[in-house]
Amino acid sequence: MADSDDLYAEIIWDNAGAPHSAMFGDKYFCLEDGYEEARHVNCAGNALEARFKALDPNVPGTFTIIETGFGTGLDFCCAWQEWEAFAPESWTLRFLSLELYPLSSQDLSRALAAWPALAVYRDALVAQYAPAPGKDMDFYFDHARIHLTVIVDDVVEALHKMRLRGLAGAGADAWFLDGFGPAKNPQMWSEAVFAAMAPLSRPGSTLSTFTVAGFVRRGLEANGFRVQKVPGYGKKRHILIGRRDVQGEV
Ligand SMILES: C[S@@+](CC[C@H](N)C(=O)[O-])C[C@H]1O[C@@H](n2cnc3c(N)ncnc32)[C@H](O)[C@@H]1O
Repeated sequence: MADSDDLYAEIIWDNAGAPHSAMFGDKYFCLEDGYEEARHVNCAGNALEARFKALDPNVPGTFTIIETGFGTGLDFCCAWQEWEAFAPESWTLRFLSLELYPLSSQDLSRALAAWPALAVYRDALVAQYAPAPGKDMDFYFDHARIHLTVIVDDVVEALHKMRLRGLAGAGADAWFLDGFGPAKNPQMWSEAVFAAMAPLSRPGSTLSTFTVAGFVRRGLEANGFRVQKVPGYGKKRHILIGRRDVQGEV
């Protein structure tokens, strides 16, 4: 079994205090402002505010987000912040993520410290966050109104586990696709990943990602997502958003 040094991602901190992956030679989030980028790409890209506001408080249910690459937990914290602001009390946010190389608790806390607006979510996450070799992580927050599971495994295996264990219920309402740049980490953007997304998506499922690489667009389209380029954040001219209206595999 790996010891904790093998388990944790090796982080390099740049002069501005932002985390980079030593293994992948890539940044965890945009260096201009990762928080605003996450809100633009994943929250706005999946129209979370409008969709959360549209949930019927009299018909309690679950809104499910699946993310590829938990990393620092920044995207999770941003989704939680929007949920708290806009979703009815009677609904539950199910957030499923996966991560092969978890950050240590200290690194995760340090990465999120850049944004005072997220301090309350960071503190709650760090209080429970404790990666251990071979162990998935399960967390409840805000009186179980938020249920987070991080599958600690390779992306394709983790998506299969989500399906086999029925973790996504009726399927994802939204996908956050975030796995370092496709050129630096092709495993996160493979045909096997796109194919594994299809049966985990409910009709009307949306997606967002910072990359507009042609093979990513084609792979998503081949698996039933209609995708489009929309303006990006900061130096990034475009990002990709998409929607899948069919049920199951294509
Ligand atoms: C850009 S970071 C994700 C950032 C994250 N969404 C956040 O809020 O900080 C990409 C993540 O994908 C993870 N990853 C890379 N290859 C993977 C693989 N094959 N399976 C699972 N996770 C992987 C990395 O360890 C890294 O944490």
